[in-house]
Order: sequence, then C-alpha cells, then structure tokens
Amino acid sequence: MYSVLRKILFFMSGETAHEITMDGLGALSRLHLTGILPKPDQQKPVSLFGLTFPNAVGLAAGLDKNGDYIDALGALGFGFIEVGTVTPKAQPGNAAPRLFRIPEKEAIINRMGFNNKGVDYLVERVKRATYKGVIGINIGKNKDTPEDQAVNDYLYCLDRVYEVADYIVINLSSPNTPGLRDLQFGDNLSQLLTALKQRQKTLDQSLSHTPILIKIAPDLSDEAVQTLATTFNELEVEGVIATNTTVARDHLSGYRYADEAGGLSGAPVREQANHVLKLFRERLDTKIPLIGVGGVMSAHEAEEKLKVGADLVQLYTGFIYHGPTLVKTAIERLARL
Ligand code: FNR
Repeated sequence: MYSVLRKILFFMSGETAHEITMDGLGALSRLHLTGILPKPDQQKPVSLFGLTFPNAVGLAAGLDKNGDYIDALGALGFGFIEVGTVTPKAQPGNAAPRLFRIPEKEAIINRMGFNNKGVDYLVERVKRATYKGVIGINIGKNKDTPEDQAVNDYLYCLDRVYEVADYIVINLSSPNTPGLRDLQFGDNLSQLLTALKQRQKTLDQSLSHTPILIKIAPDLSDEAVQTLATTFNELEVEGVIATNTTVARDHLSGYRYADEAGGLSGAPVREQANHVLKLFRERLDTKIPLIGVGGVMSAHEAEEKLKVGADLVQLYTGFIYHGPTLVKTAIERLARL
C-alpha cells in the first residue's frame, strides 16, 4: 500500500509530501484509526540508560521537530521517538526549497536549518503524549545565537526539557546551522560538556536523573573520532548517537539535486556512518552505549548496525522511502536475534 502512496507523494515537493504524510498520520491517530497501520508481530525490549525500550528501533530526530505527532508515530511500533531538534526560541529555518529527494539513490538532501516552534511548545506537546515508548528530546542552538554563547542555548533547553524527556540529545552535528559542528572539537567541546554535566548535577538534586547523549557527524577523520572518544570517556558522556547527515557527496555526481547544499541522508551515508559507529565502539568505554543511525533502508541494515556496535538503531530516510513496513520488519528482525 505504501508503494502506491509513495508514488503519489513523490510527485509533490519533499516538504509538501512530508506535511501531508504527517497530517494524515496525525488524523489517523485523532480518529483512533491507527489499528489499520502494520504493527510488529514480535518485539524484544532493551534496557539501557536505566530505561526500558520496548524494542531497539527508534525514529531519528528531525521528522517530528515539535512533538506534534508522537502518538501517531508511536502507533507504527517505534520503540523510541526522538523529537526536535528544538531551540530556545521558535525560528523559521532556511528558505524553501530546502528538502530534496534523490530516489535513484534512496537519499535526501536537507538544509531545513532547525525550523521549530521553540522549546516551550515542544515541552507541552511531550507532556500531552500518551505514547508508552521512550521519548528523546534533541536540543540545539538558535541560528542567531553567536557561537561563543551556544552553551547558553543548550543550558536553556536542558533546563526546560529535563523533567519531561526520557533522554536528551545534544546535537553538535547538523550541517545546516553555521558553526554548530565546530562544537565537536577542542576546548569548545570540553567546555560545553563540562557546563552541561554541572547543570545536570544541579538538576538531579530536585528531579530524577535524565541521561544526556551526544549526536555526532559522520564527517570525522579517524583521528577526530579518537579525540572525541577520549573526551567522552573522560567526561563520562552517557551515550553517543552516530551519525547525523553528511556534507560529502560521494557517488552522487550527475544526479539531480546532488549539488544542493545541506546534509545528505539515506543509503549513501550508510558506509560512512557505519565506519564512524564502529570506530566509536572500539574506542569508547564499553559502558557508554551507542545508537546507530544513517542509511538503514532495510531490516537487514538495522541488524548490521547492531553487528557494527550499536545498542539501538534509528531511522529517518528509510521510513520516507519504505514506510511503516520498514519499521515493522526491522523490529521483528531485531527481536529474533
Ligand atoms: C534530519 N536529521 C536531523 N538530525 C538532528 O539531530 N536534528 C534534526 O533536526 C534533523 N533534521 C533532519 C531533517 C531531515 C529532512 C532529515 C532527512 C534528517 C538527521 C537524522 O536524524 C539522521 O541522523 C540522518 O538523516 C541519518 O539517518 P537516515 O536518514 O539515513 O536514516
């Protein structure tokens, strides 16, 4: 059924198709009709970060930026849903067009630029959700916040989401906010992480502990991964999400939209994402879990992430290309391992 729907949706611009799909899902949820969606026949829970994930397959950040569709997406069977990236203030993101599909490569290029309604809106949406799985909240900085004040944006969001999130993700890896990825390096990184850890300790005095994870880019040299892993081990980061979209354009030349600026996701990012994931698994303390994301287009590729070193898997572009069936088959495959 999804393949027919996809043909229709792919006639529209990427962003219009996205809006129609999400509105349709939202309507199904409001009308209590999500029973018609395919559901996994079996699932295997995973315990991590002191949380129980109903299964190991999650939705990656960026599809539900404002937490508007948590229950609808949850009805597809996802074991966890990461909402955001959210910033302190609402912002419109970059000018459209800003989302491009390359169907021949099962890929997307996006330069959305953290379009979102602001952290306070998202917190209200999360509070209203009835979804029983795990909810992660992914936080970032506003575009107009100078880089040397980025830490204030992360602390602002951390304070607001701490009580409602099951886990929090510090997004240091979107290519669409100028300067954001520089926070992955050197003093920028250690200062930011130290400030977040300190604030977490303070929050823990009055609220229950919420784990903080870091989401990193696939465009890292092996040396940079080594340096990052050392910092994460020293500062006892609680989890790492590998990876975000890539700025590389390998094997895409000649395809329509290949030269659009932004982050590339889907099948072409898989190899690079798996390489970075594997290196992190080799270099991070074994007690630090990894969430593998990037290029999961089939149940087999979800399993591959676990083999390479992930404890949990997320997907985004695979969902756009293969719909609810991918969620179901990936959950069932990982349940059989
Ligand atoms: C993303 N991604 C993303 N990641 C993030 O941390 N915050 C965000 O706001 C977004 N926004 C976003 C928008 C769009 C249109 C896409 C396609 C992707 C990245 C996403 O979560 C994931 O890390 C990558 O897309 C790689 O996984 P897939 O898509 O290959 O499964």
